[in-house]
Amino acid sequence: MGKIRVLDDNMINMIAAGEVIERPASVVKELLENSIDAGAKKITLYVEDGGRKLISVTDDGDGMDEDDLQKTVIPHTTSKIKTSDDLINISTLGFRGEALASIASISKMTLTSRTADSIQANTLEIDCGKSEPIRPNSADYGTTITVRDIFYKLPARRKFLRTANTEISHITEQFTRIALANDKLDMTLVHNNRQLYRLIANTTLAERIESLLGKNISADLIRAELQDKDSRITALLAKPSHARSTTKFQYVFLNGRYIRDKFISHAIREAFRGLIEPNKNPIVFIFLEVPTDSYDVNVHPTKIEVRFENANLIHSQVLSLLREKLLGMDLDVNAHMPPPMAHLADNPVTGHDEHARRQKVREAMADFFQKSASVQSAQQHLNFPSRPAAGRHAGHPGSFDTQGSIAAEYTAETKKYLQLHNSYIVIQTEEGFMIVDQHALHERIIYEDLCRKVAEGKLTSQRLLIPETFEITDQQSELLKDNSDLIAKLGIELEPFGPTTMAIQSFPSMLEKVKPLDFVSDLLDTLTEKAVTLDSERLLHEVLDMTACKAAVKAGQPLTQAEIEQLLKDKDTVERASRCPHGRPTTIKFSLSELEKQFKRTGF
Ligand SMILES: Nc1ncnc2c1ncn2[C@@H]1O[C@H](COP(=O)(O)OP(=O)(O)OP(=O)(O)O)[C@@H](O)[C@H]1O
Ligand SMILES: [Mg+2]
Repeated sequence: MGKIRVLDDNMINMIAAGEVIERPASVVKELLENSIDAGAKKITLYVEDGGRKLISVTDDGDGMDEDDLQKTVIPHTTSKIKTSDDLINISTLGFRGEALASIASISKMTLTSRTADSIQANTLEIDCGKSEPIRPNSADYGTTITVRDIFYKLPARRKFLRTANTEISHITEQFTRIALANDKLDMTLVHNNRQLYRLIANTTLAERIESLLGKNISADLIRAELQDKDSRITALLAKPSHARSTTKFQYVFLNGRYIRDKFISHAIREAFRGLIEPNKNPIVFIFLEVPTDSYDVNVHPTKIEVRFENANLIHSQVLSLLREKLLGMDLDVNAHMPPPMAHLADNPVTGHDEHARRQKVREAMADFFQKSASVQSAQQHLNFPSRPAAGRHAGHPGSFDTQGSIAAEYTAETKKYLQLHNSYIVIQTEEGFMIVDQHALHERIIYEDLCRKVAEGKLTSQRLLIPETFEITDQQSELLKDNSDLIAKLGIELEPFGPTTMAIQSFPSMLEKVKPLDFVSDLLDTLTEKAVTLDSERLLHEVLDMTACKAAVKAGQPLTQAEIEQLLKDKDTVERASRCPHGRPTTIKFSLSELEKQFKRTGF
């Protein structure tokens, strides 16, 4: 006799449960989704011991009659699809007809349900797949499903459950996803008799985000919307300066279903590229409403991934929606100073000392602005030469020689500025003043210019009068070959000059201040380090970052008036000027009101 046997139904269910039910939070997800599919307006989730002991969901949805209640725990039974055609047009969260049968096979489950037109409810009890006869019961219309002791007959699975704290945080996350996707739903979560969330119906999305994720996340969210003929994308995004170290606060919903999608994640990353530091992740909530036949949801057991018919279109729509919104935003960083009293509390000083200290700070600031103003008027008066004598004063790092490092003047409008420490430009604004990091800003300006020229194929290069040669290893030679497209895009022409030597024949015109050999050597280092891990697009941007960094003015470099003016002019026109290509701020704003608070001038 052969060795192959047909598994019994309970075994089949247990194996299926392994796919869908990983932990208590998976049960929560399935039960909440069923309640939503049943048209519930109000859902209460009660959990004990992180769901390891008990999970119970009560809804006021359509309910089930006796016949349906019996069927619901049988595998592959569903009211949501009938034919294979329905599979490509799914508008419900569930459709596989597996969830309840799976959960019932690995726990003790009680289901009580009543339809609106029935006078009584029915209850079904089932213990690891073995059901008791249905009995009549009294209950309100709707459904309550209670799941106890998940995996209790499967010690191998049960031991993978984590502490109640960990499990409840997974449950909270599932609850959050569903509550965000259904902001018109009344939802409550109670854990061990403690109410964790009470979300009332008909709040705004921003209010719901605040209830679920706190004010830190919900504050200052900006809304962007794109309406196409049969689809709509709504995004709520936080300023890049709020970016987090985790991607947890990137919520993407497709017709009410939380999904993870690599195209959309890529679009989000792209939209924020250069506005946030590389290890940070933006906070965004994206809601896609698209025709249900434009994607396939039947590709993942928990339906967290879908397959879009036109993923590129979704990608470009999300990218342009976010990008345009970001470009229109004032992204300069506002300086947040500590509350004026904090210093006093940390370092107790006598009233007299503190008074003297404050007086000193006030004088220093007044002096600073007075000097700036007087130099400005002097410049106007004396027709200040185009290259100031700033370079002479570079020897004292940290010294504060306003006169020496200044290259300031009144511009035609109302702006006033000065260069400090040959590194920062301070500009008076209507609201206060701002400080620009000259290197970071110039880097961004060059980077944007490079990106545009590369995209348009307009990066011109110059032939070197005398080719510059360098030695390369076999590995570097391979790298150059593999990345020949990228190198050509940059406007660099390399030619073999001997068995282990290459010659730089042409070099980009806009990098006239950069030494070709130094540049190619750094380019080889970047390629060695990054070419394996990055796709070609990201590698190109990495190289453009590096190029911009090398070509930009340096910290410590004195600038002429004309250079400063050009920089400030470009700041107003270049995209994403508030951040350098690595995502660090180029500009920090200080408001007069903040200064007044610090100097305790408020109320005068
Ligand atoms: N809370 C509920 N209220 C009313 N009917 C329900 C409820 N929960 C389940 N049902 C019924 O039981 C059926 C089986 O539920 P189950 O979750 O197992 O499968 P499904 O939702 O159809 O598909 P999936 O396995 O993808 O979730 C559903 O199709 C629905 O008809
Ligand atoms: Mg279901």
